[in-house]
Amino acid sequence: MTQLDRHYTDPRLVDLYDIENPHGPDFDFFLELANELKAQRIFDLGCGTGLLTRQLAVAGREVTGVDPSPAMLAYAHRQPGAARVQWIEGDSSVLGTPAADLVLMTSNVAQVFLDDAEWATTLRHIYTALRPHGRLAFESRSPDDRGWERWNPKTTFARLETPHGPVETWLEVVGAENGRVHFVGHNLFKNTGEDLVVTSTLRFRSHKEISSSLSRAGFTVVQVYGDWQRGPLTHTSQVMIFVACRK
Ligand SMILES: C[S@@+](CC[C@H](N)C(=O)[O-])C[C@H]1O[C@@H](n2cnc3c(N)ncnc32)[C@H](O)[C@@H]1O
Repeated sequence: MTQLDRHYTDPRLVDLYDIENPHGPDFDFFLELANELKAQRIFDLGCGTGLLTRQLAVAGREVTGVDPSPAMLAYAHRQPGAARVQWIEGDSSVLGTPAADLVLMTSNVAQVFLDDAEWATTLRHIYTALRPHGRLAFESRSPDDRGWERWNPKTTFARLETPHGPVETWLEVVGAENGRVHFVGHNLFKNTGEDLVVTSTLRFRSHKEISSSLSRAGFTVVQVYGDWQRGPLTHTSQVMIFVACRK
């Protein structure tokens, strides 16, 4: 399995995650999709702190959050409503064959799979976990938008109020090649002066690469949206949102 970023393993950085990534139109999209599909059994793969997972877990639903990071899951466990969700530590190999209605990978989880073989294995596991005609939904940043070219210390700078006091965060891109973008994240804890530095790589797969990988895993691509309001995918879209169906 790809090594986990320090963002997901260091409890001090995990404490910043929901502050930096609050509920947005992406979560509304996935919540509406789950309702429309009348999904009763849902897996949230790479659920992280579980902010969306807990909202999905309404009465009559069986919701499971899966994540390989013990620190992210420990945070998720402490949140209100956590008991409504079943939490499993692991990657897609723990999904099994539960006849799920819907599997989600939200907030660009798809981009953590740097290696094509690992991505293909993940899609196969998801396929096996779904019931016939069950859905997989996820997003990935569009490489056509070259968003990483806009990531620099100035544009990404933020000052957060956190349980650890004020924290200043920013990103620096250190390289981009073969659909992989390498960057360094800084997290300067002002009370101690400590800068927790995170080195990360994200995979930017094209629309064609993702569609082909879904087909190879046995999925039919039902829809690809270019924004969270279900607009079409265009060459200027920042995000590609895939909804795929198990045959
Ligand atoms: C950007 S966070 C997304 C968290 C959550 N889905 C959200 O919407 O906020 C990426 C998550 O993917 C998890 N992750 C990393 N490698 C993974 C893998 N091989 N399988 C599943 N999840 C993985 C990380 O631990 C982290 O919690």
